[in-house]
Amino acid sequence: MEGLIFEQVLKLNQRRGQRDKILLRSANFPLPTFKFQPQYCSMSTLPHRCWAEIDLAALERNLGKIRAALPPRVRYVAVVKADAYGHGLAQTVARLMQCGADCFAVANAKEGADVREIGSGWPVLVLGAVLPGEESALVEYDLMATVSAPEEIVRLNAAAAAAGRKLNVHLKIDTGMGRIGVWHRDAAALANELAAAPNLAWRGVFTHFSCADSDPAFTALQRQLFLDTLRELPAPADPKGFLIHADNSAGLESFAADSPINAVRVGLLQFGLLPYPDSLLSRLRPDPVLSFHTRVGLVKTLPAGTSVGYGRTRTLERETRVAILTAGYGDGLPTAASNRAQILIHGQRCAVLGRVSMDSTIVDASALAEVAVGDIATLIGEQAGGSIGVAEFSRWCDCIPWETFCSITQRVPRIYKTTRR
Ligand SMILES: Cc1ncc(COP(=O)(O)O)c(C=O)c1O
Repeated sequence: MEGLIFEQVLKLNQRRGQRDKILLRSANFPLPTFKFQPQYCSMSTLPHRCWAEIDLAALERNLGKIRAALPPRVRYVAVVKADAYGHGLAQTVARLMQCGADCFAVANAKEGADVREIGSGWPVLVLGAVLPGEESALVEYDLMATVSAPEEIVRLNAAAAAAGRKLNVHLKIDTGMGRIGVWHRDAAALANELAAAPNLAWRGVFTHFSCADSDPAFTALQRQLFLDTLRELPAPADPKGFLIHADNSAGLESFAADSPINAVRVGLLQFGLLPYPDSLLSRLRPDPVLSFHTRVGLVKTLPAGTSVGYGRTRTLERETRVAILTAGYGDGLPTAASNRAQILIHGQRCAVLGRVSMDSTIVDASALAEVAVGDIATLIGEQAGGSIGVAEFSRWCDCIPWETFCSITQRVPRIYKTTRR
């Protein structure tokens, strides 16, 4: 390092939207120059190293089955936050719009604006808390905000007044989730404030169950608290189209046909996943929508006693034919799956050996009659009679199915099956 003069220059050019840059300058090296020239390169002809297949016809079938199980008066709110649970917002929402979703629910204003770009005419409910600065976007994109506190009413009402428009809102009641929502005892007071806000149009009321998939008694209590609280609320100025909703996928199990609840918010189930293994909803037979695949990049045989992968977490007990897959935690197979998960090659299960790397994973291919570079390895889905579901994959990864979907990273292309059936 001697003889070099290093100078750190922090350049912050917000006006041009550039990120912070730290340039390391030395007397001995010329200043780096940026030579990027976009060039035509047919990347589409390259084989995929890791990809997710999304079956839009399965999504459509699932929506149809869920609708058929509900009374016709019940509205279907499709929950498509977090890029439609990693399935890709644009394609998922477009298909749900075509096949009968009544309304969409997203996490924030940005996601709501994205839904608006896909199609018009569907109400879009933003489930998350509204940050200061997000109010005008809600008005501009004609989204429905969730209200949980008096100060939100003030901010949203002011933003709507400034735009000379009315903003649609839903009141959220906390009946035991402890997250977004006004505590149920304070709900009537807040509803009165909401009803009195001149630039807000009150369009719905809802709650959210904290353990509909694991604790039916607590879910029943939350539902009862919600129904009791509803009776204390003022009547909405415009009862037509007013939505009353509580049930997520697992909540549908205990949905009562004669309830005042007239909408459901469905996420996981429409993507083909039961909220838990013995769920009553299994009679719906939802079809898996997403499958997740990679390829064999290298095959070799290693002698007994060899340690494999970073950290040497596994030593081979016998001579082993290993296949090196072209996917790792950079794609959505987390390190928690190291030495635990299995994948399918030619329909047969192969165990993950050692720690999952960023871009590759080692599996035991000894039991396969044949394995070749380029073969498909399925992480989630069906292959030649074998099958690995999202729930099983999630257990290996110490996470929940929602998280598995959201953990498939951006670099993984989503390939859409667009057939109608
Ligand atoms: C408020 C709210 N409603 C509904 C859902 C949909 O839940 P599920 O995916 O279990 O159907 C979610 C999901 O996180 C949510 O946060």
